[in-house]
Amino acid sequence: MSAPSEVVLGVAGGIAAYKVADVLRRLTEAGHRVTVVPTEAALRFVGAPTWAALSGRPVAHDVFDDVHQVPHVALGRQADAVVVAPATADLMARAATGRADDLLTSVLLTARGPVIFVPAMHTEMWEHPATVANVATLRRRGAIVVEPAVGRLTGVDSGKGRLPEPDQIAGLVDDVLTHGAQPDLSGRHVVVSAGGTREFLDPVRFLGNRSSGRQGYALARAAAARGARVTAVAANVQLDDPAGVDVVRVTSAADLYEAMITAAREADAVVMAAAVADFRPAQYVSAKIKKTDDGSAPTIELERTRDVLAHLSAHRARPGQVVVGFAAETGDDTGDVLHHARAKLAAKGCDLLVVNEVGVDRGFESDQNEAVILGADGTSVPVERGPKSALAHVVWDLVRDRLS
Ligand code: CTP
Repeated sequence: MSAPSEVVLGVAGGIAAYKVADVLRRLTEAGHRVTVVPTEAALRFVGAPTWAALSGRPVAHDVFDDVHQVPHVALGRQADAVVVAPATADLMARAATGRADDLLTSVLLTARGPVIFVPAMHTEMWEHPATVANVATLRRRGAIVVEPAVGRLTGVDSGKGRLPEPDQIAGLVDDVLTHGAQPDLSGRHVVVSAGGTREFLDPVRFLGNRSSGRQGYALARAAAARGARVTAVAANVQLDDPAGVDVVRVTSAADLYEAMITAAREADAVVMAAAVADFRPAQYVSAKIKKTDDGSAPTIELERTRDVLAHLSAHRARPGQVVVGFAAETGDDTGDVLHHARAKLAAKGCDLLVVNEVGVDRGFESDQNEAVILGADGTSVPVERGPKSALAHVVWDLVRDRLS
């Protein structure tokens, strides 16, 4: 978690306001000092005592309270970040047109740090051209407007418009505060693969690997925190979906290949952080393979899978698309880790290769990682051991430089 910061948590009038009480709790538990600024409508869903008790601070919601302290100016100036959750269609419309008709919209006009809108509304409202235009305006001005999650909405219907999970919103805010993220990927679409593929032998058995998807999800979260539209192709990842990220779920290397080719068509950058099987059983047996009485064990013939990274590099979906690979390497008699990594970078044809040395600590199921990032242009950037989110931001710094 980041060093304690001053955060303004704006709450607009949507039913998802009740979930934001949990976001507040997570931010204060991480040590941040949070002032909650609810709109009048928000207070009809969740009352001021809840916000005051969870933030440990008085709740400011009226421009005419404590006028001598000029709160709308003080709050905006002092905030290291302003987060609006839920950001309703109405609140974003008022923010986009520069209205200052309540304390929250006034604070948005005085804020000098990052501003993050976390929308929640019905799909029809999210997709309405008025909302689409307002979101585009806010993004153009440098705000981060997180894509809503897909799932159950208020009532019986489902679709895009759901508030992301509270711990994921808090994680995104923390990412912005820790890495001082700028919306430098705003207007960009990036695709990240994460996790590890499974190659089934029969309905119950598979060949898999230990990749948890943490590094891929850290990359996806970091890109969302920098304003990108993010698609994560997730192979068997058991983690919560990162806030603001469209997640496409896959199982096998063949599924991942198809999903990546489709997602990459529209992408400015593609990062292959998934551990993809190099081999799969040549035959899938549709009934569970039984033991035989003679005590023998079956021989399983394997065949090669397709190399997704090499394919993406060789068939760039658009000019200037940046392709990034990951590699786990060891040194041997024929060369050290970086020697082998350079050869892999050339063989795969990607722009950047994030190299982990195997054998020290692979960082499976850990939140830490260290690496050297090699560039096809001959550059080499060491990233010392630290959170996977820190490595993720270095990767995006290098991608951004190549995009511009
Ligand atoms: N990769 C891929 N498709 C595969 C295998 C790997 O796209 N079928 C990608 C991984 O996502 C990673 C990079 O290739 O970004 C390197 O993976 P790695 O396992 O280190 O390399 P391999 O090509 O499998 O080479 P080897 O295991 O023989 O070193």
